Amino acid sequence: MPEFDPYVIAIDGPGGSGKGSLALAVARTLGFHLLDSGAIYRLAALRALGLGIDLSKQARVVDALENMDIRFEFGDELSIPFLDNKDVSHAIRQESTGNAASIIAQYPGVRKQLLGRQRACFQPPGLVADGRDLGTVVFPTAKFKFFLYAAPEIRALRRYKQLNSMGISANIDDLQTEIAERDERDRTRTESPLIPAADAIIVDSSLLNQIQVTNLVMSHIEQEVAG
Ligand code: C5P
Repeated sequence: MPEFDPYVIAIDGPGGSGKGSLALAVARTLGFHLLDSGAIYRLAALRALGLGIDLSKQARVVDALENMDIRFEFGDELSIPFLDNKDVSHAIRQESTGNAASIIAQYPGVRKQLLGRQRACFQPPGLVADGRDLGTVVFPTAKFKFFLYAAPEIRALRRYKQLNSMGISANIDDLQTEIAERDERDRTRTESPLIPAADAIIVDSSLLNQIQVTNLVMSHIEQEVAG
């Protein structure tokens, strides 16, 4: 048993800000569970697309998520997402899937469906959760809240490198346009928009590498937990 009460570390921010890598590093350091909430929205989008649903029809999309069977198998380096028992590692990372996720993520009915699944990930000894509304809506009482930011061109370049490393081809100019569109949609939606929680610590990762961001966040957590 840990000598502390389990707690949540919420890391929010736009795509390509480095929140996924940061969340993974922090979860490994602390031995906490990890929730990539964007992956849940992507799986939901894949399910709706797989059923041939028109994504502009909220009620049909919500219906398509009934009995959705999702799970993650954690390996050494990455976690493998399964949708209805099928490995969808490749499909989930496509930009088109991210875009579809962002379309359905606007719908209150979809967000409601996915809320319980996200909250259920909070188990001892603790959880590191990343996404857009983890500090504002999913875990409003999280012990730590960070909001990661990076300049749009840097985020596009990071996304480009990330996709390339996974063998997915991409065009950097297209990526920049898609990221800008997705940011705008995520920021301006009425339901759980992408905004920092009032008590979040804002970290600009534009000029920092992954290790520097992790060190900065970890030193804050350690200071707080020790003090
Ligand atoms: O982070 P990722 O690119 O995987 O997220 C895909 C999309 O899912 C985002 O653009 C966003 O619209 C949606 N999302 C969300 N709330 C979250 C996580 C992701 O609306 N907590």
